Amino acid sequence: MTEDITPPVHWMRQSGKAHVWFLDQTRLPQEERWIDCYDVETLARAIETLQIRGAPALGVAAAYGLALAAWNSEELLPAKVAGDVRRAADRLRSTRPTAINLAWALERVLATGFDSLPTVEDIRQRLIEEAESILAEDIEMGRKMGQAGAALIPDDANIITHCHTGPLATGGYGTALGVVLAAHRAGKRVHVWVDETRPLLQGARLTCYDLARAGVPHTLITDSMAACLMALKKAALAAVGADRIAANGDVANKVGTYSLACLCRRHAVPFYVVAPSSTVDLSMPSGAHIPIEQRAADEVRTMRGTPVAPAGVPVFNPAFDVTPADLVTAIVTERGVHRPPYQDTLAAALARKR
Ligand code: MRU
Repeated sequence: MTEDITPPVHWMRQSGKAHVWFLDQTRLPQEERWIDCYDVETLARAIETLQIRGAPALGVAAAYGLALAAWNSEELLPAKVAGDVRRAADRLRSTRPTAINLAWALERVLATGFDSLPTVEDIRQRLIEEAESILAEDIEMGRKMGQAGAALIPDDANIITHCHTGPLATGGYGTALGVVLAAHRAGKRVHVWVDETRPLLQGARLTCYDLARAGVPHTLITDSMAACLMALKKAALAAVGADRIAANGDVANKVGTYSLACLCRRHAVPFYVVAPSSTVDLSMPSGAHIPIEQRAADEVRTMRGTPVAPAGVPVFNPAFDVTPADLVTAIVTERGVHRPPYQDTLAAALARKR
């Protein structure tokens, strides 16, 4: 079985005006709608509304957003175009605070020295080259995580996962789901328990979509069914992604990940986190420092636009939670499988040259 890499976010410049072309993830699985995006504001809103989502995919989109600012700037002077790019970075940085990949990609593109280049054309080339490298590297990191992580999966394994960590959430390979897909391609028999992932149903809508496309057997459950599943010994391991990993190994990921990790500990089920090194933020000593995005109340009061609670009921809607490092069996990055103490093993892995 071969890999099928389709990035959910592309750069288009073959004909007409350069633009970003992305798959609207809010429409899936009912409709595969691709959107042509010509300006940074539209891209920023696409990120805020989760048309583009998943930590590594946010990094790719943010990098393309800076290229977009330069390519479609109407300014003629390099210094003015550079100003447009910096304003775009501020707008994109303000969209979603938890996934570090977004800020990481912006900083990486801003550090290319684009603002000291002599012509507007040079600036455009420098920015798009960097964005394309970020995409290519993300796919390559996905492959390496797939290889390292698949080795942790026994044959005939039942795997539980939360949220969506497949091709759509990344440059096109995936993180935790990439590992599952790699194990499947390697001929291992796997079955995935898919948490629906309330409130926005990334598991039900997107993970099931990716698994069905890849031909991997899977079963959808509501988030609250995970405990009963584990009590029945129906899960051999859990694999999830991450939006940010602190230096001590605490993991911010989709809300509900922490409960899953607690269940895994209670039932002696290994709990694996799979994420590229671009998700590790060594500047955060622990998860307590990670900013957690709070989202709109109507995401909880409604399901796909249909009210499911009294109008105006007070709501608590953090998009992410933090799983303490001591509940994490291992963290898989493109640099290998890291085990506790994460304070040491993550720092050593990131210090190694690629
Ligand atoms: O709010 P989302 O859908 O962007 O949240 C995504 C997640 O929490 C994923 O698990 C995480 O980004 C890892 S994706 C490879």
